[in-house]
Amino acid sequence: MQLLDGKQLSLQIKEEAKVEVAKLKKEGITPGLAVILVGDDPASHIYVRMKESSCEEVGIYSIIHKMPDDISEEKILETIAMMNKNPNIDGILVQLPLPPHISEERVLAMIDPQKDVDGFHPCNVGKLSLGLDAFAPCTPLGVMTLLDAYEIDLKGLDACVVGASNIVGKPMMNLILNAFATVDICHIHTKDLKSHTKRADILFVGVGKINLITEDMVKEGAIVIDIGINKNSEGKIVGDVDFEAVAPKCSYITPVPGGVGPMTISTLIQNTIKAAKQREHQC
Ligand code: GUN
Repeated sequence: MQLLDGKQLSLQIKEEAKVEVAKLKKEGITPGLAVILVGDDPASHIYVRMKESSCEEVGIYSIIHKMPDDISEEKILETIAMMNKNPNIDGILVQLPLPPHISEERVLAMIDPQKDVDGFHPCNVGKLSLGLDAFAPCTPLGVMTLLDAYEIDLKGLDACVVGASNIVGKPMMNLILNAFATVDICHIHTKDLKSHTKRADILFVGVGKINLITEDMVKEGAIVIDIGINKNSEGKIVGDVDFEAVAPKCSYITPVPGGVGPMTISTLIQNTIKAAKQREHQC
């Protein structure tokens, strides 16, 4: 069994990003990221702080628009419109979840698709599903980068994705389908989850449920990608997979923490640099 070390790879990616950003700056382009953070969800605040400090580390300019929980949708849309027009901003990210009175659909659709570094705009979602070049969501794209770094080829593998969210499961499904895996996608209404997971050469799990995947649900020699981030009763960060029991059966497995998590932020950095390079070409 080999661990897929996302922590190490993300450090390497950030080092490479520093070089690319320095090169862009020499050409007069400082990549810029605008983040919109609504309300006071503690996890969202932690994620945004981590995104901000990674930007700073690699030399990306970032601005955080913090808004109160009772902000109007209109105000959020206005802020996005302003960022769409701002030539110093290459990437726009709205931290999710949003408060219930705000339409996530309208807010995400307001972002200029060329600045949509989270890949949540319907244009980018559609392009990704067509196999066209697009901004892909950072967590699943980070998983692809991690697999690529370990030279894991998905072509022809039987894959199972557990969780069908717009942020993780569905884009994960599209990315691995584009890489020619045979994809099975499971969700809350799946009748017999084990019958699906057990068949998989590679299993992706992003649900947010501790110990959802137990040893008996995994095929001998499988690759297991745990995209879950949960806090257990002892306050420890754990994934969706019963790591201790499942790991000995795997050819590869991602640890939590230190697997997929760090890849999300390094991918955001890569997407922001990609957006800044597109600015370069437009000039
Ligand atoms: N909330 C949970 N994950 C994400 C993410 O990748 N991007 C944004 N914007 N919000 C999230």
